[in-house]
Amino acid sequence: MDPLQHAVEEASKSPPKKARDKKREALKAKQANRKFKGASAPDPSLGISLEDFTSFTETLKTSKRIFALLGAGLSAGSGLVTFRGSDRLWRGIEPQDLSDPQAFFDDPAKVWWFFSDRMKRAQEAKPNSAHVALVKLAEHKEGFFAVNQNIDGLCERAGFPPSQIAQIHGTLFKIKCSKHSAEKDKCDYVTEATYPVNESLTIPYDVDISDAAAPLPDVGVNDLPRCPKCDNLLRPAVVFFGEATPLSITERTYNFTSNGPIDIMLVIGTSAVVLPAAMYIPVARNAGAKVAFFNMEESDEGLATAWPGDWMFKGDAAATVADMLKGVVGNVGGRGGMN
Ligand code: APR
Repeated sequence: MDPLQHAVEEASKSPPKKARDKKREALKAKQANRKFKGASAPDPSLGISLEDFTSFTETLKTSKRIFALLGAGLSAGSGLVTFRGSDRLWRGIEPQDLSDPQAFFDDPAKVWWFFSDRMKRAQEAKPNSAHVALVKLAEHKEGFFAVNQNIDGLCERAGFPPSQIAQIHGTLFKIKCSKHSAEKDKCDYVTEATYPVNESLTIPYDVDISDAAAPLPDVGVNDLPRCPKCDNLLRPAVVFFGEATPLSITERTYNFTSNGPIDIMLVIGTSAVVLPAAMYIPVARNAGAKVAFFNMEESDEGLATAWPGDWMFKGDAAATVADMLKGVVGNVGGRGGMN
């Protein structure tokens, strides 16, 4: 063969397998390096000390059994209102007065509008960086289990493994028969749902029905969703005030908390005043856990108070959680996460 033609043919062949593998390895290392770049120090804008960052990261890295209690502050960075914040009122009414069995009995249409509004907002919101970082933590650590008080579906949409999370207050994205919890003639109908639950419960375009000045569309009881099994009214599959936590949730959580020492507990965006959820903080302490609080505000009373030796990471959870978990899960991107 002509030596020149031979040289051209050789050059056009793909590199030998060994060289290709080496290249691939180098690329992988580069990617991994990028993922953890800046992961050895906190973001200076968050005001977290290097000492706290390091001690937390080292503890989290070596932790096998990690517990978390999640609250409304986790989703505040996704634009959702909390339950006890200054923007909590819906048409001037306390949310807990609407999330109530008696309120549903007295005025099911109003309660349905309240939950339809919540559903619409949650459906339009996107999981933020904290949701994404928590999902990655669950993927990295099989001994991570979270009790989620939020009903907004953002943890599920971020991809939280269902076996590692307990939805202690239910979800907006399921509806059930209102006879579900009645002792007699109980109906077990439950189904998945999205906003709008039916045509009558569609919020008029560009109207903010959380504002009492906006007229609430007129909907009669006969227009509300009905159970296909027993024709009673359907209701959101959330735990109303005064109702018991589903037994299956309590059992799954007990199975985790009683299964050995807990290394660390993350308490994220919750005022920790609603029982039994808040009791999981002392339960974790009794199981040996050091506690890390992620909250906009430091609390000096009740179960949300940091003890000496705990960590208190003050600020928007969407930023602090992602930053504090990056030593274990890598960088998950900006505040918006999945935005
Ligand atoms: N980042 C972190 N924490 C925040 C943020 C934020 N961006 N915004 C608010 N917080 C904190 C508040 O300081 C407060 O401590 O989140 C907490 C929210 O508390 P609540 O409004 O009481 O919400 P939560 O603790 O989830 O409520 C528990 O009460 O009404 C019931 O069933 C409902 O699940 C809910 C339960």
